[in-house]
Amino acid sequence: MENNIKRIAVFTSGGDAPGMNAAIRAVVRTAYYHDLHVYGIYQGYEGMIEGKVERLETRDVGNIIHRGGTILKTARSERFRTPEGRKAAFETLSAYNIDGLIAIGGDGTYTGATIFAKEYDIPIIGVPGTIDNDLFGTDYTIGYDTAINTAVDAVDKIRDTADSHNRLFFVEVMGRDTGFIALSTGIGSGAGAVFLPEVTGEKEKLYDVLRKSTKRNKLFNIVIVAEGDELGGATKLAELVKKDFPQYDTKVTIIGHLQRGGSPTCRDRVLASMLGAGAVEGLLEGKKGCAVGVINHKLKYTPFKQAIEKHKELSDYLMRLAPILAI
Ligand code: F6P
Repeated sequence: MENNIKRIAVFTSGGDAPGMNAAIRAVVRTAYYHDLHVYGIYQGYEGMIEGKVERLETRDVGNIIHRGGTILKTARSERFRTPEGRKAAFETLSAYNIDGLIAIGGDGTYTGATIFAKEYDIPIIGVPGTIDNDLFGTDYTIGYDTAINTAVDAVDKIRDTADSHNRLFFVEVMGRDTGFIALSTGIGSGAGAVFLPEVTGEKEKLYDVLRKSTKRNKLFNIVIVAEGDELGGATKLAELVKKDFPQYDTKVTIIGHLQRGGSPTCRDRVLASMLGAGAVEGLLEGKKGCAVGVINHKLKYTPFKQAIEKHKELSDYLMRLAPILAI
């Protein structure tokens, strides 16, 4: 592989996601395999501004593949939104002679990278790391599989107590703007209904189902609600249902940040390993200003512009299936 890249840096940014450590490990080891020097930037763009940089050796990433969170820490940086912040960040990179960057995170991370690369012409490759799975250019993002398994495990436990008490539980999962987590959790846990940010007017359908199940004496006990659904989450929906169906004993569980932690699933570790290695090899092949993804089991590189502007769609088939399987 012919190129001028000798020293790269890697950082994680935005919300953490299980599997980010596996990606960092893959970046470091693939870089060493190709005789590159690697630096870790701590606390995302904020750490880049503040000069929080350390050399990473292959042994520094030993024993982390199974750990949730990110050894490089993460942050959401307001300062990086300013030209002064980005200038300070570039000065840090220059001080370490960094000639290639790997940014692990979500669309906010990609947006920051795009602006930075335009101003300073530094090769950057993004790695999709977010539990939300809402990034275009990859079938799955790092952390999504772990998050849905955590959510399904929680719902299985809730189902035991819901069933014992004949209660109706509204379980809120993460997903401010997209319903990937909610839809998979709903199907995977056999929920009676799923509320997604992408779909409006679902309350009437739920009411219909509740009326019918009361008549048929069907025990209906789990509703999955994405935090960003049109009604404003599980608590609001449960209040409405309680008012209109007082006969239901309703409860709310917000799974929250439990979904962001924990040991990554094997699927997330393998995906993260592929993406981390793919980012390094992409830089070596001269790719820049793009995000690496895995589509149909193969590495793909999507320009940041597309990865940010295009939206990955929820599966129509799964959306159609959810109510059918809840009959
Ligand atoms: O983007 C990932 C995500 O977990 C969202 O699903 C959630 O809405 C958000 O981050 C919460 O972010 P924070 O923990 O920074 O408040």
